[in-house]
Amino acid sequence: MRIAAILLAAGSGRRFTQASSNLPEGAPPSAPAKQFMLLGGKPVIRHAAEALSPHIDVLQPVGDEALLSQALEGLDFLPIVPGGTERQDSVRAGLEALNALPVPPDLVLVHDGARPFVPAAIIENVLAALAQQPGAIPAVKVADTLKRGRDGLVDNTVPRDSLWRAQTPQGFHFALLRDLHRSYTEPATDDAALLEAHGHNVALVSGSEDNIKLTLPEDLVRLERLLGATPL
Ligand code: C5P
Repeated sequence: MRIAAILLAAGSGRRFTQASSNLPEGAPPSAPAKQFMLLGGKPVIRHAAEALSPHIDVLQPVGDEALLSQALEGLDFLPIVPGGTERQDSVRAGLEALNALPVPPDLVLVHDGARPFVPAAIIENVLAALAQQPGAIPAVKVADTLKRGRDGLVDNTVPRDSLWRAQTPQGFHFALLRDLHRSYTEPATDDAALLEAHGHNVALVSGSEDNIKLTLPEDLVRLERLLGATPL
């Protein structure tokens, strides 16, 4: 079994930039994109690459060539490919690059470069689940009561019993995900959605509250605490 991982590092991190600055809309951001910010002296994306590397055969980074080659210096990775406008476009670019290898992988993990601390057990469990199902994702059960809102008022309460928050790395049989990405044009915020849309099973694997995605500035504080860089 040959296992590849696509490490996503394209995109500007709109939500992070907007929340952390008062820059007028359209102005260039003053800080590096969130996936290149330093966490304990290392770029966020490098933490993610180091977490994945022991579990895979090849790492396919997607994003800015200059920034990524600097952030991942000294690690083993395939030639960097540029990302696309949406996350989905970036994943497709990574899949096509892997498909062009002399021996394309059997399995692929797709991981958000903005998620630096994925525990090894999650990666192992996602890969193990692919022996039974064509897709597998880590997820955590929703703990808060969920409300649907309308015009500033509560409309109703959404039953949370069967609701999960999806994380990455999401794992797939490579050829299936490649083919789905080639034919699927609806917007999707993760890759499992493409399998769901076509009736393919996706296994749910236990995720972790520590598998945080850097989305808003306060996430950086939580990640620094996890690293032990900032005392609790
Ligand atoms: O912005 P968001 O948190 O949804 O991004 C999740 C991941 O997808 C990040 O690691 C980001 O680098 C990646 N991404 C990408 N190409 C895009 C948008 C996001 O690779 N066009």
